[in-house]
Amino acid sequence: MPLRINADRLHARLEAMARVGATPAGGVGRTTLSDEDRAGRDLLRSWLEAAGLAVRVDDFGNMTARRPGREDGPPVQLGSHLDSVPRGGRFDGALGVLAALEVVETLNDTNVTTRLPLEVINFTDEEGARFEPAMLGSGAAIGHFPKDYVYARTDARGLRFADELRRIGYQGREADRPRPGAAYLELHIEQGPALEAAGLPVGVVAGIVGITWLEVTVVGQSDHAGPTPMGLRHDALVAAARVIDRIDRLVRQVDERAVATVGRLRIEPDVINIIPGRAVFSVDLRHPDLATLDALVTHLEAIVGSETVASGLEATIDRFWTSEPTPFSPAVVDAVAAAADELELPTMRLWSGAGHDAKYMAEVCPTAMIFVRSQGGVSHCEQEYSTPEDVEAGANVLLGAALRLAGTTEGVDG
Ligand code: HGY
Ligand code: MN
Ligand code: MN
Repeated sequence: MPLRINADRLHARLEAMARVGATPAGGVGRTTLSDEDRAGRDLLRSWLEAAGLAVRVDDFGNMTARRPGREDGPPVQLGSHLDSVPRGGRFDGALGVLAALEVVETLNDTNVTTRLPLEVINFTDEEGARFEPAMLGSGAAIGHFPKDYVYARTDARGLRFADELRRIGYQGREADRPRPGAAYLELHIEQGPALEAAGLPVGVVAGIVGITWLEVTVVGQSDHAGPTPMGLRHDALVAAARVIDRIDRLVRQVDERAVATVGRLRIEPDVINIIPGRAVFSVDLRHPDLATLDALVTHLEAIVGSETVASGLEATIDRFWTSEPTPFSPAVVDAVAAAADELELPTMRLWSGAGHDAKYMAEVCPTAMIFVRSQGGVSHCEQEYSTPEDVEAGANVLLGAALRLAGTTEGVDG
């Protein structure tokens, strides 16, 4: 009979964490390195320490807590993130961190000592909502992002990552970065419609699609909204709008896995009776195939050129982040599938359309993810929801997969 988590305790923890940064409409706002993020970190630390784990904090604020195994080998790491997007959901990230804690608590309750150590990890700034790009903490921990690049990132108000990290008291030591483990597992909500469409509570995640983020700056000429004839205008916002409409229509022609999003747009001077002289907007492109992703960027460049140069405007495109398509380790994917089978949970294999810390952990150790069904397939909004039954099922799969990977052959003390 497979070991199972304490579902009541996990649900209570999710509820308590959801009260940190709670928004009136039932979501959470715990943007990274904010006071709310600090409060969430403090709460997690108190739970980890009460479970007997010592918490390390590294120089990016990544929190790691180790549960010793019989051997002092590389740990099996279970992680995700507590930071959220503004007015986000209560499950995105928090589910994975709190389910990892629940795995540890269940092993404590049942006196199981795994052969390999286990580590619970809370990564800083997975969302990239406040300090771009995404997965900044996990990418920095594995050495993908240089420290000075990360420390110099600024938010919309010009505040620096390093200053905010220090302000909330979570600037630790480089020596305390999570090291490559024996395996990395991440439980996460699907944030999409596939599991619900298939009527399945849990998914076995085989990889993450490619993601690339760009910033497009269009420069025209501010001018008076009244006396300036339409034929004499160099309206940066109108040009940007045409680019956005064309890239949206182009991506819809590619295939159903290609997606494009313009999530943020800033215009200057942003006054009702001044023709916008400047428009700066983001473009988030995703596809499982890197060549297709690169081709979309080439198309975007051509569209920007054709909507600006000819009408006397200028434009620059900064492709500042690319997360290559990431297939997960077949052995770890199989461990997840075996854990679900043992629980007699029907599943399907799928790729993630969302980025996750597992992307960077996959670069340093065998990695896979487990998805829990998202009701209505929605996420990054306050309506994000997964049922207690599905949450419990996902956490039990995480427990089973962790035990497979960490080994308990000689380890059961009870
Ligand atoms: O952007 C993403 O896919 C993730 O939610 N950070
Ligand atoms: Mn997430
Ligand atoms: Mn997210």
